[in-house]
Parts: sequence; C-alpha cells; structure tokens
Amino acid sequence: MPDPARSLTVDQPANAASQRLRSLIDHVYTFLKWLHVLTACIGFGSNVTHFFWLLAANRDPPSRANTLRLVKKIDDRLAVPAYAVTVICGVVMWWWRWPAGSSWLITALVLTLVMAVMGTAYGPFMKRWIRLAGEPGPENPALAPLSRQLTFWWATISLGVLAVLWLMVWKPDLW
Ligand code: HEM
Repeated sequence: MPDPARSLTVDQPANAASQRLRSLIDHVYTFLKWLHVLTACIGFGSNVTHFFWLLAANRDPPSRANTLRLVKKIDDRLAVPAYAVTVICGVVMWWWRWPAGSSWLITALVLTLVMAVMGTAYGPFMKRWIRLAGEPGPENPALAPLSRQLTFWWATISLGVLAVLWLMVWKPDLW
C-alpha cells in the first residue's frame, strides 16, 4: 500500500514543475499572438498612410516620383515583412491551438493569399508609375489610368485586410 504522505511530497515538486512549464508555454503562445497583432498593426498602418501619400503625390507633380519612391520603400521594407511575420505567427497559432477545419481561419488564409498575389502585382505597377512620373516634360497620358488602377487595388487590399481583421476578432463559424 503506497504511503499517501510520501506520494504527496514526491508529486508536489513534479506538479509545480509541470505548472511552470504550462505557464511558460502559454507565455510563448501569447507572445506569438502579440507579435501577430503588432505586425498586423504595422502592415495595415502603413497601408492606410498610402492614401495620404498618393493624394500628396497627385497634387504635387514635380515631387511625385520621389514621393512614390518613398511609398514603395515603406511597402517593401516595412509593410510586406510585417505582413509576412503576421502570417507566419498566425499559421503557427492555428497549428498549435485551433482545429484544422476552423472556417474563419481557412477563409482568412485564402483572403490573405489573394491579397498577397495582388500585393505582388502591385510592386511592378508602382515601379512603372514611378518611372513614368519621373519622366521630364508634359505628363505621360498613361499616368492617369495607372493611378486609378493603383488606387483601386489599394482600396481592395485595404478592404481585404479589414475583412480578415473582422474574421480574427469575431471568429465566426462560416460553415
Ligand atoms: C491581414 C492579416 C491578419 C490580421 C490583420 C490579423 C489580426 C488578428 C488579430 C487582431 C487577432 C487577435 C484576435 C483576438 O485576440 O481575439 C488575431 C488572432 C489570430 N489570428 Fe490573425 N490576423 C491576420 C492574418 C491571419 C492569418 C493568415 C492566420 C492564419 C491562417 C491568422 C491566425 C490567427 C489565429 C489562430 C488567431 C487567434 C489567436 C488567439 O485568439 O488565440 N491570422 N489575428
């Protein structure tokens, strides 16, 4: 017959150690969530400022090419890497704690992939826009339709991020 007093003293340190480990694992998960939300804020925050940059660029043709170059730099060096971290952390959290078939997560991932494809195509358009905007002489007629197209893509990507944000916070059962 095991001695209950002895098993209590032996098990107590083991329980405390497993509780500490569980709490450490929870902290790692919460850190991932913090990084996920922080990088989403950085990515979306930079996207939102594009609106003001693009308005400023359209109102000031002589400095347009420089303004657009800066927008592209912010995109390439801040927004895109930030979103990449958002997606990596999101997928790790999904694998870690959420059912594989969670409809809100599958929808968010599909939307994010569509936005990533759109964002990849946005880069070369931006480059062309910067090149045309920097040309000396009268404004190139190709600039206006390009500017409209880019504004449309910008708005679509921003709405897509808002939709993903909604899915993340509400976590709805979609099917
Ligand atoms: C633009 C993209 C995204 C944004 C803005 C975003 C934003 C957020 C926010 C604000 C939360 C916190 C919600 C809460 O605590 O209730 C969250 C949670 C979460 N996100 Fe995302 N997210 C994005 C993309 C993704 C992707 C692509 C995945 C994975 C496929 C993902 C997976 C998760 C998971 C699993 C959680 C739940 C964390 C938890 O509550 O334990 N996210 N996201």
